[in-house]
Amino acid sequence: MENFFEKTMKFPLRSRKKDILIGVIAGGISSEREVSLSTGKGIYDALTELGYRAKFIDFNGDINAIADRINIAYIALHGKYGEDGTVQGLLELLKIPYTGSGVLASAIAMDKCYSKKIFEFEKISTPPFFTLDNSNMPGSTKIAELARTVTGYPLIVKPNRGGSTIGVTIVDDKKDLQAAIDLAFLYDARILIEKYIKGKLLTVSIIGDKPVALPIIEIRPRSGFYDFTSKYTSGMTEYIVPAPLKYDFAQKISETAVSCHRVLDCSSISRVDLILAEDNGINILEVNTIPGMTPTSLVPKAAAAIGINYASLVDIILNCASLKS
Ligand SMILES: Nc1ncnc2c1ncn2[C@@H]1O[C@H](COP(=O)(O)OP(=O)(O)O)[C@@H](O)[C@H]1O
Ligand SMILES: [Mg+2]
Repeated sequence: MENFFEKTMKFPLRSRKKDILIGVIAGGISSEREVSLSTGKGIYDALTELGYRAKFIDFNGDINAIADRINIAYIALHGKYGEDGTVQGLLELLKIPYTGSGVLASAIAMDKCYSKKIFEFEKISTPPFFTLDNSNMPGSTKIAELARTVTGYPLIVKPNRGGSTIGVTIVDDKKDLQAAIDLAFLYDARILIEKYIKGKLLTVSIIGDKPVALPIIEIRPRSGFYDFTSKYTSGMTEYIVPAPLKYDFAQKISETAVSCHRVLDCSSISRVDLILAEDNGINILEVNTIPGMTPTSLVPKAAAAIGINYASLVDIILNCASLKS
């Protein structure tokens, strides 16, 4: 591997390949289990191809499977009990260095509501929103009032700590709001109601100990909505990389994405989803701390655009593994 990231590796693991056992932790017990298994398989195959000793751990909640003899954990889990700081906390206790973000960054990035509060505090623009808690629900008149004053229609309803667009609905009309709320509550006890932003859906991958943005990807779902089917069915979405944007403007978006990574205190990899509105406003949706990493996922696509192949990308992320506490 000959690229910029090579120089930033503090302790290249290549010379110790035979001494260390890398546990690729995948599967998990979230709604994104299947996606995680594909991510894990891609990573496991790449590590093996690179000559590392790797063990695939299909994590089903059994903590012993993680604690067992591995030297480094490559976390390929998505969603609850994987991307949310819980497994990261366990690995801190076990003193096993792990890939990606630490406990706090993982927990905050997973929580769309808290992430957005931090973006607002840092003057990073994110669509207007309000939250609803299952345990403390206002009446339907109050909700309708909030929708009218805070977001307007169309709006988008989503579980606070979801992923893969599961439980997310675009609502065009007041009469469909309750059904969307009920659906989102199936996935989390707190949900978000956010202003729908019309524009281009972009995603920016950030990698490295010194975070650097990879080329921006524009996502064009054929159905108009980047839902679960558009994400995981081949041919349903067109990906344009680098996104066709003026250079200065692309720079500004990349800098904003790096700021999102920094203000949430993320480490070594993240992917920032945003919408570029028709008025050119940048609207940050979320930061994914364990973005999909199947060989055809977005981060590998962005890396490939600057000549970093899938195995090299896996190697870069592995070499950033650390304990954060
Ligand atoms: N405020 C919004 N305006 C327009 N589209 C949105 C908005 N929020 C989400 N979306 C659409 O829904 C998808 C999923 O939303 P996102 O917030 O990224 O959650 P997830 O964690 O499920 O990926 C986005 O990729 C985008 O296509
Ligand atoms: Mg997303």
